[in-house]
Amino acid sequence: MKVLGISFGRKNKNGDVLVKHALFAAKKARADVQFINAIGMKIGHCIACDYHGKAIAAGEVFPKCPLKDDYQILEDAVWDADGIIIGAPVYAVGPVGQFKNFLDRLCPFHDRALMIEENKKRKAAGKPELDPRFFKDRYIGYISTGGASTHNWVSRGLPTLALFTFSTCMKAVGHVDAYNMGTIGHPLLDANLMDTCADLGKTIAVSIGKPYDQVDTWIGKQGVCPVCHNSLIDLDGSGDGVSVECPICGIWGDASINNGKLEVKFSEAEKARARSTLAGVYEHYNEIHGFIATSGPKVQANKDFIEKEMEKYRHFDQIIAAM
Ligand SMILES: Cc1cc2nc3c(=O)[nH]c(=O)nc-3n(C[C@H](O)[C@H](O)[C@H](O)COP(=O)(O)O)c2cc1C
Repeated sequence: MKVLGISFGRKNKNGDVLVKHALFAAKKARADVQFINAIGMKIGHCIACDYHGKAIAAGEVFPKCPLKDDYQILEDAVWDADGIIIGAPVYAVGPVGQFKNFLDRLCPFHDRALMIEENKKRKAAGKPELDPRFFKDRYIGYISTGGASTHNWVSRGLPTLALFTFSTCMKAVGHVDAYNMGTIGHPLLDANLMDTCADLGKTIAVSIGKPYDQVDTWIGKQGVCPVCHNSLIDLDGSGDGVSVECPICGIWGDASINNGKLEVKFSEAEKARARSTLAGVYEHYNEIHGFIATSGPKVQANKDFIEKEMEKYRHFDQIIAAM
């Protein structure tokens, strides 16, 4: 069993130290470990070329992103691992952009529901199935580092890191919000922080091989959402004034004020349909197929109108200059 640690921070600075400390604990718990610092890697952004979808449709077993940069090194390391720790510094209130580039290129293209359905078709047709490593259950933990002493300067850190878990259906077992580094000075000077990272590494290592329903450990702050354990709550869009949504998991809860304290309760049914679960990715898979079925005929029926109207958008520069 292997635990992979990826740090998007500076070499041997805060995030590196915390991820490596978690890996020491994973190693003590008998895992093989691998550490990658990504700061110098070239990881460009997804350009929505749809190569991956076409490669899957063409029967490829291991479709690779066609952009030629260092991205594939990280993707290969993910598939070789059974457990993952991602560390990323907070830049401008959320994780560094390089992490988001990595997420955008890896996660949506390895949607578990899409790959299960693709393999069903391949099996029926007697064709080679997708790489089995795409279907392996994995445990994951997140470490967000920030310099500011107030949480409001890192509020998008852990919640955005948690988005790495969906599509691929990994199960998160903890997160560490290592902000206030400017005041702490050095991670080694905060024994609690170091211990929490060690707990995270150990928990990932000892969880590997267990079915998801047998692991309910959570390392780090519990938060409001019982699935991703973040506390971002969306108050808009419910209509009845009581329901609120975890925007990371896409699940609804009931808010109430008890003894002056705001509480949110999420039902078991809602927890079971969180974005990171198989039921959650199937919900999205079905939604995508639904809108293809709706928009296809609509666009076809309005083809001439759209074509005529698009002229002014295609020739925007000339038209705007003449106005
Ligand atoms: C461009 C930039 C933006 C930053 N923005 C924030 C921020 O919004 N909130 C915060 O707490 N720290 C911010 N920081 C500080 C880093 O998050 C902090 O130094 C962190 O520990 C760096 O991680 P590392 O030591 O692993 O590289 C920023 C740093 C840089 C370079």
